[in-house]
Amino acid sequence: MKKISANDLREMYLRFFSEKGHAVIPSASLIPENDPTVLFTTAGMHPLVPYLMGEKHPAGTRLTDVQKCVRTGDIDEVGDSSHLTFFEMLGNWSLGDYFKKEAIAWSFEFLTSEKWLGIDKDKLYFTCFAGDENAPRDTEAYDCWVTMGVEPSHIFFLDRKHNWWGPAGMTGPCGPDTEMFYDTGKPKCCDECSPACSCGKYLEIWNDVFMQYQKTQEGKYVPMERKNVDTGMGLERTIAVLQGAKSVYDTDTFTDIIARISELSGKDYNDSPDTVKAFRIIADHIRTSAFMIGDSRGVLPSNVDQGYILRRLIRRSLRYAMQLNMPDNSLSKVAEVVIGQYKHIYPELEQNRALILNELDAEEMRFKKTLTNGMREFERIKNRFENGVIDGQSAFRLYDTFGFPIEFTVEMARENGLSVDVDGFKAAFEEHQKKSHAGAEQRFKGGLADTSEQTAKLHSATHLLQAALRRVLNDDTVSQKGSNITAERLRFDFSFPRKLTKEELSAVEALVNEYIAADYEITCEEMTVDEAKAQGAIGLFDNKYDARVKVYTMGSASKEICGGPHASRTGELGTFKIKKEEASSAGVRRIKAVLE
Ligand code: ALA
Repeated sequence: MKKISANDLREMYLRFFSEKGHAVIPSASLIPENDPTVLFTTAGMHPLVPYLMGEKHPAGTRLTDVQKCVRTGDIDEVGDSSHLTFFEMLGNWSLGDYFKKEAIAWSFEFLTSEKWLGIDKDKLYFTCFAGDENAPRDTEAYDCWVTMGVEPSHIFFLDRKHNWWGPAGMTGPCGPDTEMFYDTGKPKCCDECSPACSCGKYLEIWNDVFMQYQKTQEGKYVPMERKNVDTGMGLERTIAVLQGAKSVYDTDTFTDIIARISELSGKDYNDSPDTVKAFRIIADHIRTSAFMIGDSRGVLPSNVDQGYILRRLIRRSLRYAMQLNMPDNSLSKVAEVVIGQYKHIYPELEQNRALILNELDAEEMRFKKTLTNGMREFERIKNRFENGVIDGQSAFRLYDTFGFPIEFTVEMARENGLSVDVDGFKAAFEEHQKKSHAGAEQRFKGGLADTSEQTAKLHSATHLLQAALRRVLNDDTVSQKGSNITAERLRFDFSFPRKLTKEELSAVEALVNEYIAADYEITCEEMTVDEAKAQGAIGLFDNKYDARVKVYTMGSASKEICGGPHASRTGELGTFKIKKEEASSAGVRRIKAVLE
């Protein structure tokens, strides 16, 4: 087996599949568009769902890519040898093109050929779907592996839990999959030891999904005419296998990041189990945070949605950084390594370098301000609970007054042999929201507090504001970095390197009011991203071929990709007034404005 680096693997995978006629498409954003059900892109297939459902993809019927993914369900497991919150997924797709035979032959060739990964086929194991009352045993996939020369004893038939991919309880395309495992050489955990158990002997490295059924409303599985293949290979995990590493952290993906943590802390990664855990948590969380902030749909720390996850990651890393006695602003120094390591694949990291570093430093400062007092509060309350459970109100106070994410309190409690009444915390949280006007801040989705008429008007005003900024500042690179709108006011963050002058601000305000006076009709059209681009719409394109987007047009003033809602005419908005212009972070300005 060859010792190849993460960069090599990425490059080889894409080259292999482009030699097999696949178009290489860029990674989509980490933040899914038009999908409110999930916070982050969790698999390579996620941004391709519309095409798997039958839409035509502009790049053709064979695609390959490397997709940045975030899975945060197991944040608390990070620190062990395999869990990561950020990972890259290599994938190849057939959209009604090739099927099992080719997909399996290519997977086998890429894994075992000396020209490619050169893994000894005796070290590989495979699983296929065993069949049940809904769909038959996948002997076709089995036969394909055998034809490739795989010993039948290396192929296991497993149930739906292991070898089925598809809409969880919903309708849509789905089907059996076949998974590829590497035998680490560890002894069998029991007589029945197989890729089905998670004892660590067999590591899954790749999954080929065969979407050949459509699950109907009645729960029937109907064979589809147009069949797809969706595959996913975890880059970090496969590299760990190829490099014979004992964990994903002991691969070249993390060498430089860990070296920097060591330099900053003056400690060795392998000093003790505690340092191993702390190093891994910081390395993982800061890598993920850099990708979140540096994304084209960048996330900033906040108390909701993606921003809350980011805040949790940063604050959790900080706690471990402090345990290692790392000096102030160390996290941004770790992030510099991440940017340097990945910018050739993900140029958005370099483009957003200042934002990433500043946001990390700013969040560190915000948290450190209250951390000492919060810790003192925690020490004080922890002795109060003889039955070992910290009540919801106390946990809420730690959250509300000292900025401790609830998961953070739970983790500290666990370390002290205590637990937390998390339901009680949620109840206290909701109670507080009901009472507090500021609670609206907690509920924002997509920047809007609600969908009331007044909020929709302020939302329309934000579009006019962006258009006016671009014209007055004569700068088409001015772009939205965030927005937060309530029925009372709008807040709009945009990229611009300096403070705006008084004259510029009045010109922007006057231009928005001109657009309002023109009483343009506000229209909405659905179209593809390419069409939107061709029409000069602004918004987040993410270099990606999304199925269809909504484009809102306000006369000649503004054309923007957006989910709405909006007013029906600009004339309804009233008088636009800028209340404040200030720095939001490096390279980002913030305007607060109202409609009177
Ligand atoms: N969508 C499949 C996975 O993520 C390939 O495992």
